[in-house]
Amino acid sequence: MTDIVKYPIDALRARFPALKRTYKDRTVAYFDSPGGAQMPREVIDAMMRCMEAGRANIHCHFPSSDETMKKLENGRKAIAALFNARPNEVSYGANATTIMFQVARALMHEWNAGDEIVLTEMEHHSNLDSWRTAAEEKGVTAKYIPVDPSTLTLEMGKLPCLLSPKTRLLAIGLASNVTGTINDVKEASRQAHAVGAIVAADAVHAIPHFFVDREELGIDLLFASSYKFFGPHMGMAVIRKEILEHLRVCKVAPASTRRSGWKRVRKTSRRSPPSRRR
Ligand SMILES: Cc1ncc(COP(=O)(O)O)c(C=O)c1O
Repeated sequence: MTDIVKYPIDALRARFPALKRTYKDRTVAYFDSPGGAQMPREVIDAMMRCMEAGRANIHCHFPSSDETMKKLENGRKAIAALFNARPNEVSYGANATTIMFQVARALMHEWNAGDEIVLTEMEHHSNLDSWRTAAEEKGVTAKYIPVDPSTLTLEMGKLPCLLSPKTRLLAIGLASNVTGTINDVKEASRQAHAVGAIVAADAVHAIPHFFVDREELGIDLLFASSYKFFGPHMGMAVIRKEILEHLRVCKVAPASTRRSGWKRVRKTSRRSPPSRRR
């Protein structure tokens, strides 16, 4: 009780400009919402500073390019620290869903018809559809850990029967955004790794509420969205280095360091487009 009294709630509230709004002369209250968390002054100011300083492409020879690169690197360091991972394992994306789809589409190149993946009935659509569409394309079977409707928890006792040496991936949420149920990802990872499967965890709902230690939980692919924890609207993936190194991703880096091949484009563009050729 003493701790609750000491909690500096007024000082914390004061850092969120959105909480100063009023409606019909009363201060507003925001409930936990899929629209994302409100932003503290520090984040708003940092974003403003970034835009006011002028932006530039990375990998160019402008001071603003170096500054942009530094910001991206600092962001990777902060995200890595948040999840107990390494900065070079962090990728940015438009949101968690988009980056999950991209990783799933890359990973599916390593799957063969007859392989299996294990999902759960509790997942947000992003952590289902990304893997399911990839599985369908490759003739891979998706199996599901069921939800016990009386407790709103996963029937984890069924997991050993769903896993086999054919299992390539287990995708599981750390916490449900619907029921708040926290899943035993550590035990699920242990069992999945024992059959040689990769473990993907959706940390979108979990990370605003508790610390997610990627190492402790044995997660190989971890996904989150910063707009759920006071940041801008973007997603992030933390992909274990050993997997990232051989993943045929279409795009998880902001820009290529290779030349774009503009000379080739210029040369071919002198020809008429195919429709106008005789
Ligand atoms: C548990 C969970 N997973 C995934 C998502 C999708 O996140 P994003 O909006 O970043 O694609 C959400 C969004 O509400 C979520 O609650």
